[in-house]
Amino acid sequence: MSRAKRKIEHIQHALSTADQGASGFDDITFVHQSLPDVRMNDIHLHTALGELSLSSPFFINAMTGGGGKQTFEINKGLAEAAKHCRIAMAVGSQTSALRDNKQRGTFEIVRKVNKNGIIFANIGSEATVDDAKRAVDMIEADGLQIHLNVVQELVMPEGDRDFTGVLLRIEQIVQAVQVPVIVKEVGFGMSKETASRLEEVGVKIVDVGGLGDTNFARIENKRRSNIITYFNDWGIPTAASIVEVAQTSPSLVVIGSGGVRTALDAAKAIALGASAVGMAGPLLRTLVEQGVEALVAYIEELHHDLTLIMGALGAKTIDKLQRVPLVIRGDTHHWLTERGFD
Ligand code: FNR
Repeated sequence: MSRAKRKIEHIQHALSTADQGASGFDDITFVHQSLPDVRMNDIHLHTALGELSLSSPFFINAMTGGGGKQTFEINKGLAEAAKHCRIAMAVGSQTSALRDNKQRGTFEIVRKVNKNGIIFANIGSEATVDDAKRAVDMIEADGLQIHLNVVQELVMPEGDRDFTGVLLRIEQIVQAVQVPVIVKEVGFGMSKETASRLEEVGVKIVDVGGLGDTNFARIENKRRSNIITYFNDWGIPTAASIVEVAQTSPSLVVIGSGGVRTALDAAKAIALGASAVGMAGPLLRTLVEQGVEALVAYIEELHHDLTLIMGALGAKTIDKLQRVPLVIRGDTHHWLTERGFD
């Protein structure tokens, strides 16, 4: 099967995958504050990913690599919404366009639509330094995502089977490219051990890409009859993954993603230690089923709701939201206790 066809199938299956609610955010409760001492007009959503300044903690996470008219239209729509809402956006894996020039248009449209926006390039862990530089140049990217997707590859019969040398390639890319590098998972979460190793080779920003409800094992399984079920619930739930990484590697900038569906989920991700919050599946679903205007309305509502939540907590800035008191219960509490966090 061609890479482009596989990508279209991913989109279709992602749209039809029911919410699983595995992210762990339900285990987090904010401690209500009756004296927030804040004026709503003074609340702002600016945040930073290292040297990158963002006007909102929300961004559109990587989707829709591959070529074809459908992915072109999706990328165009996502870019229009990102521009309108002034949020950052990552493109999907550019591997196909690095191999085949004809597919570049699918990605270049994102920069054409959104000339001054913050855009992240995206490559896999098999990419070389040259691939990384070309992916960044293709869309004049402000940052580069390198995705780690071992389980997704294992579930695909045609997927990679050699996972050696990844850390070394990441180190070389971090040293060679001129933009910040974000190492991300794709829905299986990042452990404290992985984060520490990435930190050791010079990575400054990680996206935990935790277990939520866009599960590539489930998506891959829907495409075939010889189903591998044991990876369906594999992974580190997003809430636990954020705490693992943020508390073990305080110098890393953490992005919370995987199963973020509401402004409340986003607020919880930030309060657990994230500086920004990526969303993929629900934004794609909104765009494809309801169009760009609905996507813009969804993102504006997220901004509005996050502002109200910050007001209730007395947090004027994202920085302050990262320090509000909260209670962790249930499976997330259990996970974190087992993993040595108090
Ligand atoms: C993805 N994701 C993804 N990630 C990546 O780094 N490169 C890619 O090419 C893709 N492709 C892709 C296609 C589709 C259709 C979906 C839904 C997702 C993973 C994505 O960026 C994100 O990490 C996960 O989807 C988890 O976030 P959500 O969907 O729970 O917000």
